Amino acid sequence: MSEVVSYEVKDSIGVISVNNPPVNALAQVVREGILKAVQTAQQDDSEAVVLRCEGRTFIAGADITEFGKPPKDPWLPEVLTAIENSSKPVIAAIHGTALGGGFEVALACHYRCAIASAKVGLPEVNLGLLPGAGGTQRVPRVAGVKAALDMITSGKPVPAAKARDMGLIDEVLAGEDLEAAAIAYAKDLLASGAPLKRIRDISIDPATVEPGFFDEARKRLAKRARGQIAPDRIVSCIQAAVELPMDEGLQRERELFQELVASPESAAMRHIFFAERQAAKIRDLPRETPIRDINKVAIIGGGTMGGGIAMCFANVGIPVIMIEINDEALERGLGIIRKNYGITVKKGKMSEQHMQSRLELISGSTDYGDLADVDLVIEAVFENLDLKKEIFAKLDTACKPGAILATNTSYQDVNAIAAATSRPDDVLGMHFFSPANVMKLLEVVRGDKTADDVLATAMKIGKAIGKVCVMSGVCYGFIGNRMLGGYGREAQMLLLDGCTPRQVDSALEKFGMAMGPLAMGDLAGLDVGYKARQARTDLPDDPRLYRMGTVLVEMGRHGQKTGSGFYKYDPETRARLDDPEVESLIRKQAEDLGVEQREISEEEILQRCFYPLINEGALILEEGIAQRPSDIDVVYVYGYAFPAAKGGPMFYADQVGLKNVYDKICEFRDRYGEDYWKPAPLLKELAEKGSSFAEWAAQQK
Ligand code: 3HC
Ligand code: NAI
Repeated sequence: MSEVVSYEVKDSIGVISVNNPPVNALAQVVREGILKAVQTAQQDDSEAVVLRCEGRTFIAGADITEFGKPPKDPWLPEVLTAIENSSKPVIAAIHGTALGGGFEVALACHYRCAIASAKVGLPEVNLGLLPGAGGTQRVPRVAGVKAALDMITSGKPVPAAKARDMGLIDEVLAGEDLEAAAIAYAKDLLASGAPLKRIRDISIDPATVEPGFFDEARKRLAKRARGQIAPDRIVSCIQAAVELPMDEGLQRERELFQELVASPESAAMRHIFFAERQAAKIRDLPRETPIRDINKVAIIGGGTMGGGIAMCFANVGIPVIMIEINDEALERGLGIIRKNYGITVKKGKMSEQHMQSRLELISGSTDYGDLADVDLVIEAVFENLDLKKEIFAKLDTACKPGAILATNTSYQDVNAIAAATSRPDDVLGMHFFSPANVMKLLEVVRGDKTADDVLATAMKIGKAIGKVCVMSGVCYGFIGNRMLGGYGREAQMLLLDGCTPRQVDSALEKFGMAMGPLAMGDLAGLDVGYKARQARTDLPDDPRLYRMGTVLVEMGRHGQKTGSGFYKYDPETRARLDDPEVESLIRKQAEDLGVEQREISEEEILQRCFYPLINEGALILEEGIAQRPSDIDVVYVYGYAFPAAKGGPMFYADQVGLKNVYDKICEFRDRYGEDYWKPAPLLKELAEKGSSFAEWAAQQK
């Protein structure tokens, strides 16, 4: 048929096989191949057709690399029409993941069967898109309107058995030999005289949809949309499935799909999709770098981070031992883990049995002697360099040769920690984000002496526990926290200049940040930053710097935990409330410092908070701390809830234009001084050349 699609009649069943590694994406050659195969099957003596895939998965979607390029015939809808109009039953045989356009191909078939381990889903929303080949019209027809809305707006794949219960597939096949089982299934269908079932022929009774259902859904989704328009358009499509005939519904879906493909949100989210996969690749690490076996892990310190990290490993079946200073601390740490799992069980997201099997994998000890058989240690004790060095010296003695020794430090020098051992090549940073069992980001910090296989193993185990790994070099705060410095600083400076906390946070939340920086400070505890600042000797001697944070902490307002910080918090609902006392306090502080307050636009708030991130990002690139600008974007989207619909700070900078960013930074430098606003040489160079971070990255390859 074509180089990637073959067709053969086996035992009177025509078998179409797609073979387009790695994920059988629907590239033009695949679409063409399937179309030709279906046409051929109409002419031969086959009685039914099975559509299956080689390799690790059924078709995982449209070829995302083709978006934004001129379309090439045949279009996917044309292929789907040919399948649907086939005079012989076409049966999709699914393994791996049938996603996006892949699942839409299956939905156009007359029957769908899958092996038990398969999953089906429409994840387009994660790319700022909607299913553009009938998914929004066919899923509500088989699974109902509510289930369709949940599935398509969440983008979450559904396991085979559940998919069958929802009506998304017809049969879960036993065994792993999919082709043979699918042929047998096809023959059974023929023998029983099963009709040519076309989902398009099902109509939805509008009376089954509650009045106001779609308006309600729009409102609910708008709250968590964070700059994304796709969820809203998905609601419109599903509404069309209820209100319009199939062909008009498909037409509506196509129009809205085209709108989304051309949207900046989708471009940004597609950037993040590829950025995430790029980040996993370390340029100077040979492909054949060996990986060390990780069968048992130890966590040193069972506090906020240690507990969450232990859960990450137990969740994938790896035994963990947690080391604490005494029995009381150990019991507290293990208790928090039990409580966290308990909450998940209560919410119905985990069975009691699953919780027990995970808890059984987590043991505790106060004796470093119990570390002799572990393959990986992650240290998560207090943020104190001397303590960490002391612990690494102990680990050096307690752990077997070849064990990987990692620190979860947020700021300390990984090279200095490594130097406390006789094996610095086994040492690196594995910097998790809080809550560690939830947040997707893992910064893997490569020390000067970290061995290649240690680095490769950390990246691999990070992926295995469900994290998105980004490599960072050693510097104060690594990629993410180092960049954050200027962001938090400016949020507070803006208060003295005339903003209320609400104005600052709202501008950033409207942009799509999950939470503004001042509200975030209240959540994390203002005392944390206060203590960290006291330990620093490199900060400029400027009374304006972090003034409000300092004043509030000294008044006992430490944030949510004390009921007040930049805001006050309703003791019952925990709702964030504006506090006129803080607003007059800010005015008083500005007056004392001689800062003239003024009206500040939302645009300036965004520039003042984000441009320091971008500038520091440019320095990080120049210094080689991050491999690529897109790695920085991944850090911010997965670790700091920067909106994916804006693509991360470096992608955003390219959209704004580096010349505009640079000019504004120069303007702020002239207004506020070089201590805070010093344009990075790389930013200056690219701005002057009219270039972008993306172009710079392309030249580094
Ligand atoms: N198009 C192009 N390339 C794709 C792709 C796609 N749909 N899906 C994955 N790839 C590429 C990845 O970029 C990666 O390339 P690389 O090796 O050069 O980095 C390679 O395939 C392997 O991908 P993963 O590393 O993600 O492999 P995993 O095994 O971890 O995961 C997967 C496999 C679950 C299929 C995952 O790749 C995935 O979720 N893919 C995207 C699925 C998706 O979003 N589909 C919808 C596309 S939009 C659409 O279909 C529109 C339609 O409605 C018209
Ligand atoms: P924490 O204070 O909640 O927990 C630290 C734990 O270490 C305590 O339970 C303490 O008893 C234990 N401990 C101290 N000395 C020990 C020793 N010698 N042996 C065994 N256990 C010992 O601290 P948290 O927040 O969990 O931070 C731990 C590390 O993780 C720090 O380096 C921090 O910078 C880093 N980190 C923290 C994040 C956060 O948001 N809290 C985020 C990312 C990293």
